[in-house]
Amino acid sequence: MAVVDFDMSMAPDLAGSDAIEGLRPEIENAHRLLTEKTGAGNDFLGWYDLPFKLGEEYGRVKAAAERIRKDSQVLVVVGIGGSYLGARAVIETLTDPFANAKALAGEGGTAVIFAGNSISPGYLSSVLDVVKDRDFSVNVISKSGTTTEPAVTFRFFKELLEKKYGREGAAKRIYATTDKARGACKKMADAEGYETFVIPDDVGGRFSVLTPVGLLPIAVAGIDTDALVNGAKEAFNEYQSCDLKTNPCYAYAAARTALYRSGKAVELLVNYEPGLHYLTEWWKQLYGESEGKDGKGLFPAGCDFTTDLHSMGQYIQDGVRLMFETAVEVRTPATDLIIGSDADDYDGLNYLSGRGMDFVNKQAAKGTAMAHVDGGVPNLKISIEKLDARGIGGLIYFFERACAVSGYMLGVNPFDQPGVEAYKKNMFRLLGKPV
Ligand code: PA5
Repeated sequence: MAVVDFDMSMAPDLAGSDAIEGLRPEIENAHRLLTEKTGAGNDFLGWYDLPFKLGEEYGRVKAAAERIRKDSQVLVVVGIGGSYLGARAVIETLTDPFANAKALAGEGGTAVIFAGNSISPGYLSSVLDVVKDRDFSVNVISKSGTTTEPAVTFRFFKELLEKKYGREGAAKRIYATTDKARGACKKMADAEGYETFVIPDDVGGRFSVLTPVGLLPIAVAGIDTDALVNGAKEAFNEYQSCDLKTNPCYAYAAARTALYRSGKAVELLVNYEPGLHYLTEWWKQLYGESEGKDGKGLFPAGCDFTTDLHSMGQYIQDGVRLMFETAVEVRTPATDLIIGSDADDYDGLNYLSGRGMDFVNKQAAKGTAMAHVDGGVPNLKISIEKLDARGIGGLIYFFERACAVSGYMLGVNPFDQPGVEAYKKNMFRLLGKPV
């Protein structure tokens, strides 16, 4: 069974099996640019076959994760953007939503807490409060080593660790994931003797989840990283052909391109599993930074259903007709609950007694897709069998590969992000940074 499936039968203008066939020459061209490494940004294609070349460093990642799980009740992961979202996406998808609360209560496991992804003093104070009387380690992640948010945040944790464990003791609890040679983070790690992991030169932040950037925090959270990587390998092997009937990844790239060209401006990624919230956040960065340039690109937005049907549902159903929806479906839930019968039936729900919650969730998804299609919002569907490491590894690779192909079809360099610098220039000027 394919690790990820794609279905566009609820996108009325695309539903005929030949509807996207006209895009096949463009898909073939994008595939060539990718596989022959001749397209724009081709020095950032390290992600392409990354699952097959993790190398000896992967062993060190696993060993460090084991050590952290033994000596720390909390791992603070300091990073932002591509140096943050992938790890958070996988961890929140694959762990118990209360895993951190349990670890902090001493019920086992290491809590993984993220910091450095904002400049909020309130949030940072709360994290410092959580760790001050607990054993903790820090994984500082920054490819450039100069990003303001994580750099400022790290100062606070370094100071606290040194106060708690002394400078040498702190050095044993700080893990730096950064460039192999350049940047302030690498310089500090070498000078202080921190264990370091490398973000490869040819892997951009938003494509780095299967490097130590993601793998170390994910392993500390107790997730089977081998299964995650194997899921990505499976997906890679499934996307070698340009036949849109058998390659779901390229069919998704073609379908979203066709919808963009038909006038849609927004792609709304939706899920029916709260754990997928951060996968959507990761996806938003992946597609937003890869495609939103040169005045082009779909705006990637996200909703968690059914929660957001009670807040955003009205706009989706009746507002400006500018979007299409891509639903991520999990076919088999990790667990199901059967709805009981109630003698009084005050809530009138006895018609559902004996039914599983998953059945209700699935009917909500079907009913929503039908309503939105009727309201002029075409629906695409991406499915995985289970919320497990294999499925999420496959989905990560599916989205990365489709993103690269879509970007080439759009005529942009999918691997740069020049627009991210503009706010930094203003902020540094306002802060009086020496030039
Ligand atoms: O995709 C990107 O390039 C950005 O989102 C970066 O990942 C983010 O700004 C963090 O950069 P760095 O890892 O250099 O600290």
